[in-house]
Amino acid sequence: MGLLEGHRALVTGAASGIGAATARLMAAEGARVAVVDRDVDGAAAVAAEVDGVSFGVDVRDADAVGDGFVRAADALGGLSVVVNNAGIGSLKALHAYEPDEVDLLVGVSFTGTFNGLRAAVPLLRQNGGGSIVNMASVSGLRPTRGEAPYAAAKAAVVALTMSAALEYGPDGIRVNVVSPGFIRTPLTDFVWSNPAWIDPLEAATPLRRAGTAEEVAEAVVFLASDRAGYVTGHNLVVDGGSMLPSAQVDHVLRELLGE
Ligand code: NAI
Repeated sequence: MGLLEGHRALVTGAASGIGAATARLMAAEGARVAVVDRDVDGAAAVAAEVDGVSFGVDVRDADAVGDGFVRAADALGGLSVVVNNAGIGSLKALHAYEPDEVDLLVGVSFTGTFNGLRAAVPLLRQNGGGSIVNMASVSGLRPTRGEAPYAAAKAAVVALTMSAALEYGPDGIRVNVVSPGFIRTPLTDFVWSNPAWIDPLEAATPLRRAGTAEEVAEAVVFLASDRAGYVTGHNLVVDGGSMLPSAQVDHVLRELLGE
């Protein structure tokens, strides 16, 4: 029997990358799946693969999210799992961001997650409880240069997750967050386009490689499933250990340890 047998799951940003891998794994584990994305054709293609349903929604639009989630619940006979995964990135010096770009980055990652939580709660209450998994990033825990609005929005997603876990635990709704490290998806294609960037990046990762969308999906499915029945408010980092090495002392350690 699959980990999500009998569950009805909605995944945002599921036309591509981590969201699509999550939709596929959830279906393979027995869930019926609603694929939600602003990319209508991409969402329909993934839904066709997983024998699910799809809805074109921009997660920044609270009304569209509310309407899309209700329609998804109607189509699946209710919802027991919601994954707020949609996100976009950008890279430039903090002072070079235009206000519109900040609104967009914060609007998708933070407001989009907020809108998803707001729409999910009444539906999961109707179900008698359920599980929500949000998507943050190691950038929200240890920001890199050039990602200020993204990193701040992802840090906010972690805080939002903890607030929601406190508020809705009594309703039997668990709320957790996954923070991926460097994962190969269309979002990070621009890095893979330069092979000279990849070797040092993988060498600096304790597991010596980038992660896959499928590996992040495994963490999402675990948190969504009844196997994580006593886990709420948790931030599960899926980064191959990339947050552990200390750039400050690494060169000293390399010499002292004869590496
Ligand atoms: P991706 O670019 O492959 O997929 C993102 C999906 O979100 C796309 O299908 C896109 O159409 C959708 N989307 C974007 N804006 C939307 C909106 N306003 N409304 C509805 N859908 C929207 O990216 P990936 O890598 O799969 O990212 C998924 C999540 O994982 C994002 O939240 C991202 O920030 C996060 N993440 C990714 C990492 C990586 O290395 N790829 C690392 C850490 C976090």
